[in-house]
Amino acid sequence: MEEKLEIVVAADLDNGIGKDNGLPWRIPGDMKFFQSLTSNATEGGINAIIVGRKTWESIPEKRRPLKNRINIILTKNTAITAPEGVLVCNSLESALEALQGIEHQRCFIIGGAQIYKEALQHPLMTTIHLTRIMQEFDCDAHFPPIDDRFALAAVSDTMEENEIEYRFQRYEKKSAL
Ligand SMILES: NC(=O)c1ccc[n+]([C@@H]2O[C@H](COP(=O)([O-])OP(=O)(O)OC[C@H]3O[C@@H](n4cnc5c(N)ncnc54)[C@H](OP(=O)(O)O)[C@@H]3O)[C@@H](O)[C@H]2O)c1
Repeated sequence: MEEKLEIVVAADLDNGIGKDNGLPWRIPGDMKFFQSLTSNATEGGINAIIVGRKTWESIPEKRRPLKNRINIILTKNTAITAPEGVLVCNSLESALEALQGIEHQRCFIIGGAQIYKEALQHPLMTTIHLTRIMQEFDCDAHFPPIDDRFALAAVSDTMEENEIEYRFQRYEKKSAL
């Protein structure tokens, strides 16, 4: 089956996604959504996640690698040390080549801003799982605007946690519908 790339991102009303290499909000319901979406595979299979080096470093050491998923870090510095079993690749293409040789189901791009920007232009990118956070935060990292190659395919009810309203949206590339 041909590889599909799916983006998972949480963005505020101004497409802000991060500040000082961290998340500007704490929304446990969104963390749960992320864990479940990226971990759930059928019949004992496994999914892959591709993550930029800066976002990788922002994940607390005790929570990385992300369990039950193939973890791939993108960096130009492939001499970095990574935990056993974690792949380090120097381009998105080389990550996708490496994945061709590894049994897996879905492939999620989990950020940050640099990786999202490149992945959004990739021909295999089909789906954006966007948690829309219904406020504006002080951010120094942003998600690119979602252009009209994509159509809104699903939207959840609005939820609220820590006085922050948010909803889950799924965009699909029109050419893949
Ligand atoms: N809200 C969300 O859903 C969400 C999700 C993820 C991250 N974030 C936030 O996003 C921010 C981080 O984003 P960022 O743009 O600063 O960093 P990033 O995308 O996580 O990582 C950038 C690094 O990735 C490597 N890289 C980028 N493109 C590459 C390519 N084509 N090939 C190989 N390596 C490549 C480079 O590493 P080297 O410098 O080592 O070469 C680059 O410095 C943080 O604030 C984080 O909290 C938010």
